Amino acid sequence: MARADKQWAVRPSPALAGMTTVPGDKSLSHRAVLFGALAGGTSTVRGWLAAGDTEASLATIQALGVRVKRHDLNTLTIHGGALQPPGASLNLVNAGTGIRLLAGIMVGQSFASVLDGSEQLRRRPMKRIIEPLGRMGAKIASNDGRAPLSIEPAPLHGIHYDMPMASAQVKSAVLLAGLFAEGETVLTQPGPARDHTERMLTAMGANLSVDGMTSTIRRGASLRPFDMTVPGDASSAAFPIVAAAVIPGSDITLTGVNLNDTRTGIIDVLREMGADFVVTETGLEAGEPVGTVRVRYAPLRAIDVGGEVVVRMIDEFPVFMIAALCAEGTTTVRDAQELRVKETDRIAVMAAELRKFGAQITETDDGFSITGPQQLHGATVDSHDDHRIAMSCAVAGLIASGETSVLDAGCAADSFPGFAAIMSALGAPIVESAGGAHAH
Ligand code: S3P
Repeated sequence: MARADKQWAVRPSPALAGMTTVPGDKSLSHRAVLFGALAGGTSTVRGWLAAGDTEASLATIQALGVRVKRHDLNTLTIHGGALQPPGASLNLVNAGTGIRLLAGIMVGQSFASVLDGSEQLRRRPMKRIIEPLGRMGAKIASNDGRAPLSIEPAPLHGIHYDMPMASAQVKSAVLLAGLFAEGETVLTQPGPARDHTERMLTAMGANLSVDGMTSTIRRGASLRPFDMTVPGDASSAAFPIVAAAVIPGSDITLTGVNLNDTRTGIIDVLREMGADFVVTETGLEAGEPVGTVRVRYAPLRAIDVGGEVVVRMIDEFPVFMIAALCAEGTTTVRDAQELRVKETDRIAVMAAELRKFGAQITETDDGFSITGPQQLHGATVDSHDDHRIAMSCAVAGLIASGETSVLDAGCAADSFPGFAAIMSALGAPIVESAGGAHAH
């Protein structure tokens, strides 16, 4: 895809200070439009994330005949009900969550559909959903396990599925298909992947029960519409949080952050490394605990990260590398092989970009090790069209000497529109400018 892109000029940062909010949660914003489309009535969403990935999901439900009224950028009403056959293939652009969750819905429809996306999305593994959905009776043709996915209508039946990896997208695709399957669909996950789908479908009245790592769903219940306010995205909050944790003298407060504990592994790990946090829960939004996160700079110690916490911070490892570079001693990460099949291979791509800053990183199959502290020098780096790589490189630039240029930075708006402005308001010297067209 070609787009007029942005670039960032980043300089060494003074202490960060102030209070701010981050945009709405991406996972919840995808689910709001996809599940709202299935509800029998009108749902209202406030604080919806208007970002590249979620706009793709929104456009998709509109292509399926769902009427959506947009009151402003972040407020939607969704007139859910029966979906209509789309006139063309459905384009999820870069959104892995969008395509995998939508596949779980489309296999339950009485019409055929084709799900597709950008070159980047076409590289990502889809066998992980094709396999369990196929066992349920779904007919999905693919390009050797990748998009485009061509779905033909077929009757579905429930299965007992032991998920081989802790993935909320796979779990959600199977549970959504379970809404249309005969009998009972029982799914067991190997670890606590984010549970937004279970929380939302339960609130909407689905026949869904959760017992430890096992979820069971039955069809039949009509889904109730909802009225929700999307809390701030904990994964977006991770960028200012890590920046404040590594820039001496910083003291920042983020309000309205989603504190669902399937999403807050980064806070737990940084706290164990010595970061100074005050986390205060203030209430519930959209069935999720929400609150305030204050983080103050403190010297960090190295840590070993592995096991259950990995999936609770899976999207935060690119920016976590910056914390590891600042910590005293050797930080090792294992059990994080899923990083290799995200928007990019986030282990290889981050290691390559950070080496341009002079960093030394040892890659392993399922993680990395970094010995700190290391002094970085400014560099010209590239996002590889991966939003979290762009923003992680900007945070690296804040602690590097000299000037850093992050090229192809417009992709940050896939999840965190306004990143440069929000960081600047906290005192981070990140200046955004037009970067010229860039081909993908
Ligand atoms: C997501 C699940 C995670 C995460 C992604 C969003 C979701 O992916 O990395 O950013 O909203 O369900 P996996 O399910 O592949 O782990």
